[in-house]
Amino acid sequence: MCGIVGYFGKDTKVLDTLVNGLKRLEYRGYDSAGIAIVAKDGQVFSKKAIGKIVELEKELEKSDISKFDKVGIAHTRWATHGSPTLDNCHPHFSQDKKIWLVHNGIIENYKQLKKELESKGVQFSSDTDTEVIAHLVQSFYNGDLKKAVQKTLTKLEGAYAIVVVSADEPGRLVAAKKGSPLVLGVSENEYVLASDVSAIISQTRNVIYFEDGELVDIKDGKYTITNFKDAPLKKKIEVIDWDDEAATKGGHEHFLIKEIMEQAKTMEDSCRGRIVSKSGNVRFGGLNTVKDKIARMERVVILGIGTSYYSAKLAELYFEDIAGIPAKAEMTPEFRYKNPYIDEKTWVIAVSQSGETADSVAAIKEAQNRGALVTGIINTVGSTISRITEAGVYNHIGPEISVASTKAFTSQSIILLMHAVMLGRMRGLSLRRAKAILEEIENMPKLAEETLKQNSNIEKLAEKYHKKNNLIYIGRNYNYPVALEGALKVKEIGYVHAEGLSGGELKHGFIALIDENMPTIAVVPQDSIYEKMISNIEEIKARSGIVIAVATDGDKEVADLCDDVIYTPKMKEEIAPIINTIPLQLFAYHVARLRGLDVDKPRNLAKSVTVE
Ligand code: F6R
Repeated sequence: MCGIVGYFGKDTKVLDTLVNGLKRLEYRGYDSAGIAIVAKDGQVFSKKAIGKIVELEKELEKSDISKFDKVGIAHTRWATHGSPTLDNCHPHFSQDKKIWLVHNGIIENYKQLKKELESKGVQFSSDTDTEVIAHLVQSFYNGDLKKAVQKTLTKLEGAYAIVVVSADEPGRLVAAKKGSPLVLGVSENEYVLASDVSAIISQTRNVIYFEDGELVDIKDGKYTITNFKDAPLKKKIEVIDWDDEAATKGGHEHFLIKEIMEQAKTMEDSCRGRIVSKSGNVRFGGLNTVKDKIARMERVVILGIGTSYYSAKLAELYFEDIAGIPAKAEMTPEFRYKNPYIDEKTWVIAVSQSGETADSVAAIKEAQNRGALVTGIINTVGSTISRITEAGVYNHIGPEISVASTKAFTSQSIILLMHAVMLGRMRGLSLRRAKAILEEIENMPKLAEETLKQNSNIEKLAEKYHKKNNLIYIGRNYNYPVALEGALKVKEIGYVHAEGLSGGELKHGFIALIDENMPTIAVVPQDSIYEKMISNIEEIKARSGIVIAVATDGDKEVADLCDDVIYTPKMKEEIAPIINTIPLQLFAYHVARLRGLDVDKPRNLAKSVTVE
């Protein structure tokens, strides 16, 4: 995790660019933050603060930090090695305080390196793995920062994106990447290095994505890119299509509510140009090169974790029901520690919003080693997973900034449903059913808009229930993953203990928890398993449980049976789970807000989990 920024450019912009970049990357970690600016005379000004970026800003206001120099680095931390203290806060520095650096990733062999450095008399001032890099660069430094960094890299094992500066060479920045993301924004006489493009778009949309084993040297106002062994590389400048507005709150109180509310549009964006209504088919440009291979596959495995795993769980049902193929959702942190049934007849679809999740990257490599075809469904353009997969599809929903995933879930689920239709059409899915599903997908933005109108009703329900510390969520068949996702949302942002269950699972133990203090949220649309869900609700009511239902518009039976109801429109069974997730997102949002919590940056979490 962690977010890093480096800047070379105009004297008057260094501080603002670094701080604004950190604010954009704050979703990656917010235990502590720090900044270092190298002045033209070689003095280094640094400030650090525990907590969020606003704490660093307060420190900066009080300080005499140089606001007028060309070069600086900054970091927002999600602690892995060493607790969030000032000493452990980046930028870290060498013993002579000449080399300063920021790092995202983990140096796996840091203990051994630390021992070696200590035996040579080096004194450490933090508990971090990162500090070894600063001391190593110092030990190799002989007037050329790039050479010293290159020598250091030969010693490091693990994952890193680093940006390094030296007091002896003001105006120079050297950055390198292996296993953690790094992007360079390029504009006239100005360069921004960052963990992702959201920290860059306010400066420029022209970016270079680095691959593992690449290094950039910014010196005398120019940049050169080489591999770690100094062979020059020519890299393409890509133009990103996100604008600055996409990465701001657009008038909402939080990113989370903005992202929930824009789902009608993001659903449309996810499908744009991809549905061929006439032939009841789906066109994914990103899968063209592997379409023939896909047609020959005998099973599907969908990889993801957290919210992305729950969209994979939904897809498992889609593939079996619509494409008639064995399908399995796999949780990526577990995947490579078992002996998964994967071979060259397996189509593995990796789902990830960030495209950087370390567990998912490792699982993909495992599947590739076993000969599977791996494609991706990724939101972040140019991310690691989008590059290591053989082919894939982007979500096209703009950056998701709030730590809790919302619009990514609905987009992933729609795209997975479309994957199932595409494969189904290769395997005998009838034109009639395919057309009916695709028509309903095209209607989804309207259904989402209707559902979002429930916001104020849901806010009232949250006022009624936000003090409850335990909740149960139930759903069946297509709505079981919805129950899982609803429970995850309220756990992560509301700090409410919640269990997501299949309605049928309740009586096998969990029902012992039911009493008047344990509300259940039941997702109960009028579908093929409606009667079964009604029985499950009856079982809860018979034990004095409170039930809040998410039900089909106008369902009187459910309204009479339950304590409260949130209505969603009447829809097809395949679409319902995707739309039914929206009220649960809104409920979690209002619960968290009413509990006075930091909705966009829940404690202990980070948006992009780039460590295992
Ligand atoms: C939940 C959430 C996490 C992520 C998970 C995977 O709201 O944000 O559970 O879904 O860390 O992240 P990606 O999709 O980026 O691989």
